[in-house]
Amino acid sequence: INLEQPYRTWYHFQPKKNWMNDPNGPMYYKGFYHFFYQHNPDGASFGVNKMVWGHSISKDLINWTHLNHAIEPTCAGETSCFSGSATIVPGEQPVIYMLYTGLINEKTHQVQYLAMPKDLSDPKLIEWIKHPQNPLMAAPNGVEVGEFRDPSTAWQGKDGKWRVLIGARNGEQGKAILYRSEDFVNWIVDPNPFYATDGTGVCECPDFFPVYINSTNGVDTSVENSSVRHVFKISYLLRCHDYYFIGKYVSDSDQEKFIPDEKFTGTWKELIFDYGNFYASKSFFDYAKNRRILWAWVLESDTKEDGIERGWAGLQTIPRKFWLDESGKRLLQWPIEELEQLRYNQINITRETLLSGSTLEVIGITASQADVEVLFELPDLESAEVLEPSEVDPQELCKEQYASIKGMIGPFGLQALASEDQTERTTISFRIYRVSDEYKCLMISDQTRSSSSLREGLEKPIYATIFDIDPNVKTISLRSLIDRSIIESFGDGGKVVITSRVYPLLAIEKDAHLFVFNDGSQSVVISELNAWSMNQAEFENEQTYYG
Ligand code: FRU
Repeated sequence: INLEQPYRTWYHFQPKKNWMNDPNGPMYYKGFYHFFYQHNPDGASFGVNKMVWGHSISKDLINWTHLNHAIEPTCAGETSCFSGSATIVPGEQPVIYMLYTGLINEKTHQVQYLAMPKDLSDPKLIEWIKHPQNPLMAAPNGVEVGEFRDPSTAWQGKDGKWRVLIGARNGEQGKAILYRSEDFVNWIVDPNPFYATDGTGVCECPDFFPVYINSTNGVDTSVENSSVRHVFKISYLLRCHDYYFIGKYVSDSDQEKFIPDEKFTGTWKELIFDYGNFYASKSFFDYAKNRRILWAWVLESDTKEDGIERGWAGLQTIPRKFWLDESGKRLLQWPIEELEQLRYNQINITRETLLSGSTLEVIGITASQADVEVLFELPDLESAEVLEPSEVDPQELCKEQYASIKGMIGPFGLQALASEDQTERTTISFRIYRVSDEYKCLMISDQTRSSSSLREGLEKPIYATIFDIDPNVKTISLRSLIDRSIIESFGDGGKVVITSRVYPLLAIEKDAHLFVFNDGSQSVVISELNAWSMNQAEFENEQTYYG
């Protein structure tokens, strides 16, 4: 396939060709980061009975070497290898367990398998072997045999037993099922689901881990003491979003469970890792740098046929470090610092006023591959538009009836992957509202004008979310990672994130532009803007798969 196509990313992880979805088993081992991913080796569309685990390694999570597939369907009756997670027991003689879902009987049954590295002295972990006792778990009572998948990273309880969560479904009920084991091979199911929601459909890719209360450092999955809280994350297939809950892990009562601070309501108020295009995420504890890192699959916004024609489909986010905010109420996310090695040619703008209706082009960077950070100084918040509490709904506020009311403070922000005349653009913006005595910010990543292509089936959604802002804070920040067909935008220091996948027709390569704009009637000030051109990350092939 043509690796020079304008939509192939320069610094987001991609295999050389074919289909990719979920991140699987990310981990750090003996000097290498390992990344596995759901992969159809035979084509650029999802293949239910074809999935294998692609495998790549890296020293810095940015430049990658592709290896041969790590896990393929080799057990008796196994036809496909679905998602799973790594559990590392560090120490003098480390152990690595890779639990994953295998399909048997031509997709009707999902069971859990254990694979382990053949040679732990090989830091590249090239060869994987399957445990002879496989499969280790089959759907228990109350779980559909075809909806039982995606084992989490395991953690060890105070009683020394391992625990793992599996995503599941029973009718309209979605759940995460808890299993316990003394030896990682013989697993016993807890009859009470660890988590269950009615009417949501299947829960995919559960993740459960502690976060420090008072530190941005990460912490290993089994840690359980008064300096941590716990986070439970689930991917709801029907909603195509990754929801997370902060809460209390109760392990010493009769019924082991997680009590979220806020119950799932299914409304816009839920905490979601990324309000845009982002799914099936997985985190891991990075022993090398004491941080917790999040990966996720970013879906296509065009059709299956377009993907097949291009020869590839699916991206991964830039790995994000994340931690608990000081408020204890949400997680903050930020692109890993290693990404900054790709920056060059810094452009700086300081203290520039953006009058109502004005646009400023950021000149001198490769606008199709860029990293941009802006700090906006807000006008007096007193002037913000007033909304009734009942009107606060991000999806509603994007609809014409509201969006056409000229804003007071905002919308202002960036127009990324824009054509010279700005007819093509993806707009990432903030708009401030006053609701009773509080101030709220609407953040939007609007793709409706992202492409003038008339290709059928090209999705151009508007992603939006609302968050509270502190009336004493006078600035708001935005960072966008722009990479040819993806824009990841981090609002207010990583409090909210929105990722968009776009296929511009005009705004490609040298014809892509970047603008800062203000459409509100109040002026805003660019307190400081830094933008960088981004170099291409290195992707090498070490083994035969890619030839
Ligand atoms: C999530 C998912 C998982 C499954 C995998 C198959 O995107 O559906 O539940 O294991 O993808 O590729």
